[in-house]
Amino acid sequence: MKVIRVDDYEALSKKAYEFFIHTMNTTEQPVFGLATGSTPKGLYELLVDEYKQKKQVFEHIQTFNLDEYVGLAKDHPGSYYYYMYERFFNPLNLDQKQVNVPNGLTPNFDEECERYEQKIAEAGGIDLQFLGIGVNGHIGFNEPGTSFSSRTHIVELTKSTMEVNSRFFETKEEMPNKAITMGIKSIMGSKEIVLLVNGEHKAEALKQTIEGNVTEDFPASVLQKHPHVTVIADTDACKKLQAQ
Ligand code: GLP
Repeated sequence: MKVIRVDDYEALSKKAYEFFIHTMNTTEQPVFGLATGSTPKGLYELLVDEYKQKKQVFEHIQTFNLDEYVGLAKDHPGSYYYYMYERFFNPLNLDQKQVNVPNGLTPNFDEECERYEQKIAEAGGIDLQFLGIGVNGHIGFNEPGTSFSSRTHIVELTKSTMEVNSRFFETKEEMPNKAITMGIKSIMGSKEIVLLVNGEHKAEALKQTIEGNVTEDFPASVLQKHPHVTVIADTDACKKLQAQ
């Protein structure tokens, strides 16, 4: 794993943005894997700025989001569908055909998981997958204990994840307890992965990801086995790494 250390969140977003632009401009039909949460917000803002200043075109890209809550309406501000359309898909004028978010409202979850995997395969796989990380090591919504051979699947969220993510909901009761997520194997199938980590609260998670044992008990540790992973981390997140 290559680690790029940056001073702060602004620099992290800028670096992530450079990876995005590089892949977009060097790949014929670029396919991006996208994450939600607080971490990639700066990346999306920079890309939207570029588009508004007419510096980049995005009409040839395709995107696949990592995950979605089960049971939230698309217009619920806590849904990842809403997050992505508000921050990224609408401001960039992306066509519906270009973007993919797992459907957390489907009447048939097995079918939806299968459909999502197929769609990724039909697109030729993901060229560049962006990831954030949960404090418990989850990537996407793959919680500790998830099999490394998992494909897109339904997960029960852990108490800790529900606690942490309830900040995106007005009341704790609104917070869903299930999600649909690309599996570990789906993520590992990406040609390149960029993991974004910022803040001291993620320092222990980053240490385990890079220096810990590769174990299903800590999902992000699987990234040690991927040949093209870059971690972009700020100074605070790097505080617990051995080589300072
Ligand atoms: C969420 C998402 C993940 C995200 C992670 C970190 O639960 N499902 O895709 O990477 O948690 O979120 P944040 O960036 O807000 O810390």
